[in-house]
Amino acid sequence: MKEKVSAAPSHPGKGAQRSGFSGKLGYILAVAGSAVGLGNIWRFPYLAAKYGGGMFLLVYLLLMVTFGYVLIMSETALGRMTGKSPVGAFRAFGKSLPFCLGGWVNAVVPMLIVPYYCVIGGWVLKYLVEYLKGSAAALAGDGYFTDFIASSGKVEFWFLCFSLLVFFVILAGVKQGVERVSKVMMPVLVMLAVLVAVYSVSRPGAWEGVKYFLIPNFDNFSWMTVVAAMGQMFYSLSIAMGVLYTYGSYIGKDVDIEKSTAQVELFDTAIALLAGLMIIPAVFAFSGGDMEMLQAGPSLTFITLPKIFSSMGVGALVGVAFFLMFFFAALTSAISLLETSVSSLEDEMHWGRPKCCLLMAVVMMVVGTTSSFGYGIWDSVKIFGLAFLDFFDFLTNSVMMPLAAFSTCILIIRVVGFKKIAEEVECSSAFRRKKLYNFFLKYLAPVCIAIILFSSIANVLGWITL
Ligand code: PFF
Repeated sequence: MKEKVSAAPSHPGKGAQRSGFSGKLGYILAVAGSAVGLGNIWRFPYLAAKYGGGMFLLVYLLLMVTFGYVLIMSETALGRMTGKSPVGAFRAFGKSLPFCLGGWVNAVVPMLIVPYYCVIGGWVLKYLVEYLKGSAAALAGDGYFTDFIASSGKVEFWFLCFSLLVFFVILAGVKQGVERVSKVMMPVLVMLAVLVAVYSVSRPGAWEGVKYFLIPNFDNFSWMTVVAAMGQMFYSLSIAMGVLYTYGSYIGKDVDIEKSTAQVELFDTAIALLAGLMIIPAVFAFSGGDMEMLQAGPSLTFITLPKIFSSMGVGALVGVAFFLMFFFAALTSAISLLETSVSSLEDEMHWGRPKCCLLMAVVMMVVGTTSSFGYGIWDSVKIFGLAFLDFFDFLTNSVMMPLAAFSTCILIIRVVGFKKIAEEVECSSAFRRKKLYNFFLKYLAPVCIAIILFSSIANVLGWITL
């Protein structure tokens, strides 16, 4: 049956020029398309491997159904209520400095994420091209990835290629086409991920990895588990970066916000779990759960996947298929990050689209190039002990996103009020978890954010060791 078109803005006049989704399904697919990306396939497995396996997973799931749920609901409801992206949404409730800062901190996050996102996108593109060239065996060799990221010129080249593709799509306005392709690619990605996960889990010695990933062991708990799990939850669900405000402003009053939140959370987590099952058991199978390997961080996915593929016999073929899907997941997410950044600039600076794209190109060159060089020629330069890419990742995920989330919570608690949010949600359906929402927002969220923010900053400054 055809979906009812519900893209009309909720308040004529204010949102009259906003584009919209082609109905409820279009909205869910767009949010899921933006949610599923590098965060699920690259970031989640390496953080889970590094910060306690099953313990990380448990904390992640708990945070997602409480804190994550509250934030997705809040941002979407505020976006739909005001018909604006974050800066405008905050300004709709007040013009003073705190409102301005609250809106901008949400809007700036995607601008800082998209450059280093494109650096990783470049790594994916490089691997895809190498698989197409038939270099599967070389990719699986020890030290291949480490050598690659140390060659700054090469990393920069692939970063520029990936970024140009993203800009091309944004400028040429072929986003619709890409989204259509990704709707086909996503189910294929899921199928391939299931196949690779089953293969990985069934390797000799892999079972220990499955246990490490799925069974919480309290010995593996540290505060860093909570800090990392929360940052990952923001990143993966596209929370605290203005995206959900913007998407919320595009939807009609008939979209059941609570139901679609649950669907997106479920889908996003399923993909992350699959990626964890592809990668962590394989680390145990290939290295016997070597701690150093588990701590490999950002490189883990790129080292482990080629090894799994090459041991599969049909590895080259699976490698091409997998990295193609991985590339599309990264591309659609990067497009939505850049699109959000450009539209915030358009809305707030009242500049034309080309000028906004130009400014973003400059930001991307600066932040992306430093990130590209950070593991190579600039690897002696560290900020608070972190390489550039890790620093930008830390700054956005562990500092700015908690601040952005904090502003949203305070806006609702002190200014908007629960009643208005409830009315907004109830436009389309009953608000089933209203009491829980109020409780989490009022008591859990601010405390959680304050603890995380303090501990991650104190850790980086060396005041405490997590
Ligand atoms: N959620 C994406 C990921 O997990 O890779 C990252 C992201 C994409 C965040 C697009 C925000 C966004 F608009």
